[in-house]
Amino acid sequence: MDNPAVIPIRDPLSQVVSRELDAVAGSDIEPAHSGDANVPGISEAWLDQVAESLSEHGWMSLDTRDRLGAGLLAALREEVVILDRTDAMKSAGIGRGSDLVRDRAVRRDRIAWLQGITPPQAELFRFLESIRSGLNQRLFLGLKRFETHYATYHPGDFYKRHLDSFRGRASRVVSLVLYLNDDWAPGDGGALQVFNRDNENEVCGIVVPEAGRMALFLSEEIPHEVLPANRTRYSLACWFRQDEVPLPL
Ligand code: OGA
Ligand code: MN
Repeated sequence: MDNPAVIPIRDPLSQVVSRELDAVAGSDIEPAHSGDANVPGISEAWLDQVAESLSEHGWMSLDTRDRLGAGLLAALREEVVILDRTDAMKSAGIGRGSDLVRDRAVRRDRIAWLQGITPPQAELFRFLESIRSGLNQRLFLGLKRFETHYATYHPGDFYKRHLDSFRGRASRVVSLVLYLNDDWAPGDGGALQVFNRDNENEVCGIVVPEAGRMALFLSEEIPHEVLPANRTRYSLACWFRQDEVPLPL
């Protein structure tokens, strides 16, 4: 099916086009009972498109505002805003043998892991779980579990170009980032830059961290970078993993 709900963005200009296509493609949203049980906004057709884009292009950007709902997005944002005012958000390390001075040259975000216990987190986890099982059914990825954290980037914070997983580790396989910011203006910075998997110097997409916008990509293959934010940037990142027991990265 040639439905444009999920398409890779080829260059910054096509961002606008992509949004319009997303809006048009919202018509396949089905009531909860006709898709995955109890997961509003997830339909078999939508999962088909996500799986197809992932296998064909390795990444995609999509608008999930209508699928997740403005209420859930606002509730998640409220949680991370509150966490950010406490010391719950910790400087993110980069795997084993973390060294804060070295790591701060690479990434400056702060993170807090989600447990899925509060009502908005429980609803989010149902959404993520149906993506996990939907991708397994379609792409046979053997995704066993997912892990997810909130992230905040304060003005000046960034995350230099990186991969989320090392090839052959079979740990993090699919990455998902969900943005939680209302009214993100071009001057606010903080865009996600996605690089060509065959040429890490070529930018092949830019994702604006506006509430409901989601980026999905293959963790081992797609280099990406968070440009410096000029305003506090709220998001959550999720990794679908093949391992049962956590390995670093
Ligand atoms: C990450 C990451 C991207 C983003 O947390 O590994 O690359 O847009 N995040 O927040
Ligand atoms: Mn990353």
